[in-house]
Amino acid sequence: MAKTATLTYGNQKIELPIIEGSEGELGIDITELRAKTGLITLDPAFGNTGACRSAITYIDGDKGILRYRGIPIEQLAENSTFIETAWLLIFGELPQRDQLRRFSQRLTVNAHLHEDFKHHFQGFPVNAPPMAMLSAMIGTLACFHTNLLHVEDAAVLEETAARIISKVRTIAAYSYRQSSGLPFIYPDPKLRYVANFLHMMFSMPYDQYVVDPDIEHALNMILILHADHEQNCSTSTVRVVGSSQANLFASASAGVSALWGPLHGGANVAVLEQLEQIHHGGLTPQQVIAKAKDKNDPFRLMGFGHRVYKNFDPRARILKTSADKVLAKLGVKDPLLDIAMKLEELALKDSYFVERKLYPNVDFYSGIIMKAIGIPVNMFTVMFAIGRMPGWIANWKEQFDDKTSRIARPRQIYTGPKLRDYLPMDKRN
Ligand code: SDX
Repeated sequence: MAKTATLTYGNQKIELPIIEGSEGELGIDITELRAKTGLITLDPAFGNTGACRSAITYIDGDKGILRYRGIPIEQLAENSTFIETAWLLIFGELPQRDQLRRFSQRLTVNAHLHEDFKHHFQGFPVNAPPMAMLSAMIGTLACFHTNLLHVEDAAVLEETAARIISKVRTIAAYSYRQSSGLPFIYPDPKLRYVANFLHMMFSMPYDQYVVDPDIEHALNMILILHADHEQNCSTSTVRVVGSSQANLFASASAGVSALWGPLHGGANVAVLEQLEQIHHGGLTPQQVIAKAKDKNDPFRLMGFGHRVYKNFDPRARILKTSADKVLAKLGVKDPLLDIAMKLEELALKDSYFVERKLYPNVDFYSGIIMKAIGIPVNMFTVMFAIGRMPGWIANWKEQFDDKTSRIARPRQIYTGPKLRDYLPMDKRN
């Protein structure tokens, strides 16, 4: 393999170093490009641009491979818990028994919110979108944990990570309760992470929600599958915000906002809306496929396609298999699952999708399982955010620990007016 790439420009010829990742990925290191040539590169949406070196998650989009710290997602989904996976992503290794016990205890003692949070929730209108509340309230954590705004060492980072991972669950549940006009339910320290979330979502003051172990297992798996995904839109947002040395609360809040978009984490809601539209006779699956292919129609088949995966998203494979099992275990018959499978069958036989290598992604089947568990549709992207929180924290930490990292500040190619003078009002036509 050549060690450098040669760039010839005019009478200039420079050698740019080739760097190789641990899985053989190759990249041209252009950190010296502007200094040596005065040139910058242009790559809108960064489809060809690596923003960092990272040891957290590996994706092979052509082979449909996803690994967290080298461990295949299939093995983690089968054997791990969300909290164990969170530790793996943030600290790099599967936790020892005492580490997991200490971290779980930290999550338990940090599950509650300061009582003054209630005033903020009560200030939101009843129909406030839960993602808006989630982003606002994660940022608001900075007001109540001012001692954690500056991460000095590993112990402070571990404490901050535990508080955010624990409280994002409580904030999410309270956002749902507020948007449904229901009383807030306090966390129960006897319950594990997912069970406690379900308790805060669905218990009533006079009636404790009984957690079904199958539901708890399914939601653990969903959170594991969403926990990280290298430099996706929201994780890149967290890194950019964190690169200014903004605190972890502010960075995570920005990540929630980026995730909300329908092209990103908001797709799981859009998928359900599309399936419901078909189910209620609005469109046939064939009409949906035709609309998705129509260049004159901005409509897209939501839950399909991916910037990196040009094969099945391994998470979609796992979710598709488990959707059948979870619905059967819960005794739920959902026609939307059959519609989703019909859409997938039609798309994967259609040259438009095959040529563009458009396959189901993580959002295509996740909503069907969450609906069966009883998670309201307007909370689907919130569940994605709870799942992605460890990945955001792991990336923020990796950048923070890299003492060579600098503030993110991309360049541009200016295409505006050339030099001109200010015109007084009476001279403007
Ligand atoms: C997530 O990055 C991540 O890792 C994200 C994520 C994570 O875990 O963080 O995996 C989570 O965000 C999954 C993606 C969820 N979004 C959706 O399901 C929305 C629908 N999908 C698309 O909008 C699209 O596929 C994206 C946004 C996912 C990817 O967009 P790209 O990489 O910019 O692809 P593109 O728009 O350039 O599409 C290439 C071609 C185009 O056609 P041509 O111009 O070549 O003729 O494929 C077409 C697109 O029109 N296309 C689709 C399509 N997705 C792409 N056509 C119809 N339906 C679709 N879903």
